[in-house]
Amino acid sequence: MIIKSAEFVTSAVRQSHYPPASLPEIAFAGRSNVGKSSLINTLVNRKKLVKTSSTPGRTQLINFFMINQSFMFVDLPGFGYARVPKKIQKEWGPMIETYLSTRSTLKGVVLIMDLRRIPGQQESDLINWLSHYGIPSLLVMTKTDKLKKSKQVLQQKQAAEALQLNPEDLLLFSAKSRQGKDLVWEEISKLVREETVLR
Ligand code: GTP
Ligand code: MG
Repeated sequence: MIIKSAEFVTSAVRQSHYPPASLPEIAFAGRSNVGKSSLINTLVNRKKLVKTSSTPGRTQLINFFMINQSFMFVDLPGFGYARVPKKIQKEWGPMIETYLSTRSTLKGVVLIMDLRRIPGQQESDLINWLSHYGIPSLLVMTKTDKLKKSKQVLQQKQAAEALQLNPEDLLLFSAKSRQGKDLVWEEISKLVREETVLR
């Protein structure tokens, strides 16, 4: 994918704050600190389009970005970070759920997981929930640069088992080495082109 432009559009909590639903949208979800924002930056060849941080819970709003004036990327707040204030934690579930279940232009969700960690209930729940709503998902295991090649393959296999999927359903990626970047773009491009699923 040739990136001609990538711009921040707006941040939202409530539906009334979302930008107009006119362009195809791809959302990025996953556990807090897993590397969602870094993955977006890598895809669009920008170091700081999206703020990243070593402190979990950095992204607390739904952030919309316009890519090539033709589709949107949506960076969702991460789930599962206990040290975020209770009030905000309670708002996160409904905030993400409302977005995912109502956004008519949503073409797919990229679920990002840390390759070093075996996915748990929250990841399984999200995958099942998306499939229930008929929303296509793309599963990406990131931070591969932290593991040796042989360990990467082993982790990929065990993560797939935990999710009851095939290892090849999990794409390997690294924001640091850029491993898997072209493959992730290929899959995202397919999702962007799919006919709108009416919800
Ligand atoms: P929240 O917004 O807090 O949910 O986090 P996030 O999922 O957006 O993660 P973010 O992209 O901010 O990255 C979290 C930390 O992981 C940062 O310190 C990144 O530099 C680091 N990181 C992200 N991706 C990679 C990767 O592929 N390899 C390595 N080595 N570090 C990474
Ligand atoms: Mg983030």
